[in-house]
Amino acid sequence: ASPVLTDTFGRGHTYLRISLTERCNLRCVYCMPEHGVELSPNGALLTTDEIIRLAQLFVSQGVDKIRLTGGEPTVRKDLVPLVERLGQIDGLKSIALTTNGIVLGRYLPQLQKAGLTHLNISLDTLHQHKFEIMTRRKGWDRVWESIKLAISLGYDPVKVNCVVMRGSNEDEVCDFVELTRTMPLDVRFIEYMPFDDNKWNSQKMVSYQSMVETIRARFPEFERMEDRANDTSKAYKVPGFVGQVGFITSMSDHFCGTCNRLRITADGNLKVCLFGNAEVSLRDAMRAGATDEELLPVVAAAVSRKKKQHAVSVKRPPPVPFFKKPILQQQNSL
Ligand code: GTP
Ligand code: 5AD
Ligand code: SF4
Repeated sequence: ASPVLTDTFGRGHTYLRISLTERCNLRCVYCMPEHGVELSPNGALLTTDEIIRLAQLFVSQGVDKIRLTGGEPTVRKDLVPLVERLGQIDGLKSIALTTNGIVLGRYLPQLQKAGLTHLNISLDTLHQHKFEIMTRRKGWDRVWESIKLAISLGYDPVKVNCVVMRGSNEDEVCDFVELTRTMPLDVRFIEYMPFDDNKWNSQKMVSYQSMVETIRARFPEFERMEDRANDTSKAYKVPGFVGQVGFITSMSDHFCGTCNRLRITADGNLKVCLFGNAEVSLRDAMRAGATDEELLPVVAAAVSRKKKQHAVSVKRPPPVPFFKKPILQQQNSL
């Protein structure tokens, strides 16, 4: 990364996550309340052109991977043309999408043609009735079809994001591991994180350590692999299985030291940390007529204020009840 994207701890930022919308067609219990989700007015959101301009600017400074997130990015009407235009940016090696898979099937062939290289699909349960409890909406079979379509189109691995909550889906962890026997999935179990309003409490969080124990009871040969650089997940697999497993341990063991990520929220704020405040409005700067040369120092200043690590996780708490409820910002720009 260029000096603009290098922070005071020497971390170079080559990975940009762009939230396309705050909207979502699900209401996962760990993410959003059922009612009263406050949304920015449409005019506040970045336009397609503004997103492409920022993407070009960040790629010119060394970003080589862009992940589109939300809310749910597929609810944005211009998703396919947006990916097409990202696909034409020289120097951008990966274009990734994190989606709940509900309407993905409809767009995936076009997205692939447009240049989408990586796909993360969220699925917390293998049971339709539980899906309807955890997401407060119908659609389990559509997500499952999307996962199968992604495999058939050659995405390998398809990452499956599974937030594990005590009393909801913790009993399915081994069944998800079982899927990797024959399917080219990378199933990632995610520790439930606290956000405003999501009723987080430490009792509902299932820790990485306890998930590994549960899995080893059924698959004793379950083994740790070498992690890829800058990965949020700790990689594991059952030897001989086609797919693999990972754990995203945001709570019990943060990965701030190797963080290479920056974020742009749907309304155009640059965020240098998931757990931090929005730093600066790139949208306002652009709409006030800033040139690229004027935007760069604004970005550099925000990056240089990035902290060494976020204050939320508790490093290796021996028993789980150590977690205290921290105050976090909006959940709609993961
Ligand atoms: P890739 O590594 O690009 O595949 O993406 P990812 O797995 O980081 O992102 P994804 O959008 O699939 O999000 C999965 C989970 O990763 C989210 O639920 C978050 O819990 C976690 N996550 C993503 N980015 C960060 C981050 O910067 N900090 C922390 N602590 N957690 C993150
Ligand atoms: N804790 C952990 N993961 C979360 N996600 C959303 N809210 C939370 C939370 N409170 C996950 C979604 C999706 C990814 C982008 O973030 O399940 O897979
Ligand atoms: Fe929507 Fe994802 Fe939040 Fe679920 S976790 S409500 S799919 S944004």
